[in-house]
Amino acid sequence: MNYLSINDIDVLSNWVKEAISLKKQPKKFKELGKDKTIGLLFFNNSLRTRLSTQKAAMNLGMEVIVMNFGSEGWALEYADGTVMDQGTSEHIKEAAHVISQYCDIIAIRAFAGLVDKELDEAEQVLSGFKEYASVPIVNMESSVGHPLQALTDAITLEEHNFKNNPKVVLSWAPHPKALPHAVANSFVQMMQKQNAEFVITHPKGYELDPSITKDCTIEHDQEKALENADFVYVKNWSSYTNYGQIKSQDTNWQMTLKKLGKAKFMHCLPVRRNVVVADEVLDSDQSLVIEQANNRTYAAQLVLKKILESNEN
Ligand code: CP
Repeated sequence: MNYLSINDIDVLSNWVKEAISLKKQPKKFKELGKDKTIGLLFFNNSLRTRLSTQKAAMNLGMEVIVMNFGSEGWALEYADGTVMDQGTSEHIKEAAHVISQYCDIIAIRAFAGLVDKELDEAEQVLSGFKEYASVPIVNMESSVGHPLQALTDAITLEEHNFKNNPKVVLSWAPHPKALPHAVANSFVQMMQKQNAEFVITHPKGYELDPSITKDCTIEHDQEKALENADFVYVKNWSSYTNYGQIKSQDTNWQMTLKKLGKAKFMHCLPVRRNVVVADEVLDSDQSLVIEQANNRTYAAQLVLKKILESNEN
């Protein structure tokens, strides 16, 4: 079993229930991962994913190896038949096989480059490891998805009385840097599995991949979208159509308490205060961001538990 995208979840409500039960007894399965090793390979920076996945593995009794592959590993080649006389030093075929001898699970973070859409959508790092590793692979945020974050968000929603067809709004926010679409994509895919009124709001030109947002309600008037919202998930992403470009930094899209109304505020973190969201929101009781970060551990722990169990059978 791999955990590469939200589509690897069979019944989301069952996964959420099981994660909440793990949260109550995090050490209950501490024998499950005994004598097993997870390798966490980071091609990009992280705080939450790195520490929560490590904590999750330790709660299951696993050994953890962490490698900042982006800065410490050899530059990998992914193409078949390349004459490797340029910048790349090691082929994914060898690297994935070698790491599979050291680790029982390999977890990978490799962001979108935001230059070449086709290359990013091919998910060459994740796909390369999937093809050539002989152990299960976990996506710790790839070019197009962040399924550990989306599972976390489903857990957090459930813990806040996510019942009776609530209204959930995913709102774009300004940001000085071009950011990937992965968090927004996985959140949309997770919400498509929920019984909720779901609205996406963003300025024109910030449409996400239409193959992901198909059938979603999209409202370009943020104020209208936010009317009577129960949960507001705020996230920046760069343009998908004009791939990787910043089309707007309109500060009017920043989330404020006035706009939030009575809704709960969600964000995956890290977040730029007073650019994406005002201090008054993050410092209010309506903010769920610290709880979301805590739930990263139990989302990761559930995924690792399921992988370990599937390999026992
Ligand atoms: N939300 C999230 O993935 O945080 P990090 O980038 O710090 O891991």
